Amino acid sequence: MKKSPLFLFLILLLQVSYAGNIPKPLYKDSKAPVESRVKDLVSRMNLEEKILQLNQYIFGENDNVNNIGETVKTMPSGIGSLIFFGSDPAVRNQIQKYAMEKSRLGIPILFGNDVIHGFRTVYPISIGQACSWNPDLVSKACTMAAKETKLSGIDWTFSPMIDVARDARWGRVSEGYGEDPYANAVFGVASVKGYQGNKLSDPYSIAACLKHYVGYGESEGGRDYHYSDISRQSLWETYMVPYEACVKAGAATLMSAFNDISGVPASANHYTLTEILKKRWKHDGFVVSDWDAVSQLINQGVAADRKEAALKAFKAGVEMDMKDNVYLENLPTLLAEKKITMAEIDEAVGRILRVKFRLGLFDHPYTPVVAESERYLQPESKAIAGKLAAESMVLLKNNGKTLPLSSSVKQIALIGPMINDKINILGSWAHHGKIENVETISEGLRSEFGNSCVLNYAKGCDLEGNDESGFDEAVAVAQKSDVVIVCLGEKREWSGENASRSTLALPAIQEKLVQTLKNTGKPVVLILSNGRPLELVRLEPLADAIVEIWQPGIAGGSALAGILSGRINPSGRLPITFPLTTGQIPIYYNMRQSSRPGLGIYQDIPTEPLYWFGYGLSYTTFSYGTPKLSATKIKKTEKLIAEVEVNNTGLVSGAETVFWYISDPACSISRPMKELKYFEKKEIASGAKTVYRFEINPMRDLSYTDANGKRFLEAGDYYVIVNNQRVKFKIEE
Ligand code: NOJ
Repeated sequence: MKKSPLFLFLILLLQVSYAGNIPKPLYKDSKAPVESRVKDLVSRMNLEEKILQLNQYIFGENDNVNNIGETVKTMPSGIGSLIFFGSDPAVRNQIQKYAMEKSRLGIPILFGNDVIHGFRTVYPISIGQACSWNPDLVSKACTMAAKETKLSGIDWTFSPMIDVARDARWGRVSEGYGEDPYANAVFGVASVKGYQGNKLSDPYSIAACLKHYVGYGESEGGRDYHYSDISRQSLWETYMVPYEACVKAGAATLMSAFNDISGVPASANHYTLTEILKKRWKHDGFVVSDWDAVSQLINQGVAADRKEAALKAFKAGVEMDMKDNVYLENLPTLLAEKKITMAEIDEAVGRILRVKFRLGLFDHPYTPVVAESERYLQPESKAIAGKLAAESMVLLKNNGKTLPLSSSVKQIALIGPMINDKINILGSWAHHGKIENVETISEGLRSEFGNSCVLNYAKGCDLEGNDESGFDEAVAVAQKSDVVIVCLGEKREWSGENASRSTLALPAIQEKLVQTLKNTGKPVVLILSNGRPLELVRLEPLADAIVEIWQPGIAGGSALAGILSGRINPSGRLPITFPLTTGQIPIYYNMRQSSRPGLGIYQDIPTEPLYWFGYGLSYTTFSYGTPKLSATKIKKTEKLIAEVEVNNTGLVSGAETVFWYISDPACSISRPMKELKYFEKKEIASGAKTVYRFEINPMRDLSYTDANGKRFLEAGDYYVIVNNQRVKFKIEE
């Protein structure tokens, strides 16, 4: 039958309007619920596409927008994630365009990198940040870091590191928040909230990654990448505590660690990764392995080859394979051999896609390109960097009120290898920091004291080696000055990853410089910039005052200058014990009781460390009243209020951090001698007093965990301890 032109036109019209109305796939609908989008997308993916999502590639440092073309071609457009070492959003966008347009389903890549203590605005290293005991400030620094990171084309940071670390020979103590589980939990949660903001899809939020799950801080002898012998009891009491808190706070992802936990590597550990993390804690984001951690299962002696390594890590609950292609190569065969199932692959892919959807990557895959001058080092971030640097510094010694420097000081000697340093004070993991943005110690001191004093400089010596040829000049400079500021420390590569050291002492040349300066008879102020607690047994007696400044980042110079002049009253307190000698390790405040207290300790060295956890001085003095409890006995379900009044009895305003500990002297499982349960920092004006309050929730604060993480609360006597004062109370049935 011949069709009329009108009929043909109508058919055409129908086809055109039908084509225009092809329904968008559900996963592309930004208004649809995330779970429906995940399900829809997974249902459309083929095996190759799914497996690519489970892999992370790395993208080289020297790529720029003009020459990435070839690199991009070697990379599958459907890759799940990239470690992006660059900072140019245009480069990210070009790669992302390739993924969005060339992958069949248009799945965006998740760009990750290590933003550990800031991006271009470099904040103090994490161990320094913890000295502030100011989680709000730490959170703000992470918010600022997230914005710089996001505007540089990165959606995901491999931070925070919340590995409880009690052996300062381990270089990575610099990257975490010290020896205490609760402190790691509090600062970890503060970081997660800072990075992730209110919603992951907010324009400047990035996803956090808790690392290194779990027990990495216990590496035997402080050697990196080594075995960790952790009983299930210690795992729960100590190492899991911060992870549980941060998972509850909504951390999007975790990184499985390099270490082997008592025979089962952390990256092949079904108990920690699946039974606990996914089933018990209900984490619905994903786990990425640490760098090559899947293939390293062979070195660790639990996998005969790459295929078995892939099987073990995947089955244990590692969804994304960082960099070593083991999943890419082996998951298809493992599926064909029915060793893994499609349902397991779908579950893993779904977890990764869920995070991408939550980040808003499908709806906004590209990064807005703004000028570096608007992206980095904004006044607010620099102000936070300065404040955090100041609050991270710890006054360790101050004999005869050497500090703050008196107005009678007219000539200051600035001596030491760190005085003009611009690199080491940035700390490890600061590869986006630029030396031109760093304020040196010398610059900070010159702008603080330049108008009132003459500053005489001599380097004295290098950070290491045997060259004493600068000593004479240093002595001459000291002799013509009223006070000697000597600034020593560690190179930044002496801490961080793969930076274990057999001794916490500084190289002998640095100690010898201080001895030489001491011989001039001038007052010596020792400034220490390092990434770990140091062995100061020989240096401490030589110094009249000591300030620990850690690796303070870009704004350390004026922060330190403010402390030396008295413009800033130091308020930092240590989050990790400084042993007297390296041989005292392990030494940490929350040890368990010995069967013969005071005995059985090394005969050849003193028992006490040089500075305990929580130590730090101020320019003012605080006196504590007697702690008061709202009751002497309560039921298990009741709350107890503990209060203590603190008076600023000195002449200047100062911030005091009150640490509340509990102790359970008799329990079914022997408990640490004391455990930190709460802390609070407040500024108190000179002559003023304030009350600090700790609301004790018995189940949360007094209970103990068994070896499977179950919590129990026993009736009996407990102590609350504040400023070494112990007050007893009773829990009734
Ligand atoms: C290895 C480190 O252990 C880890 O902390 C880091 O996030 C990854 N490399 C990625 O750079």
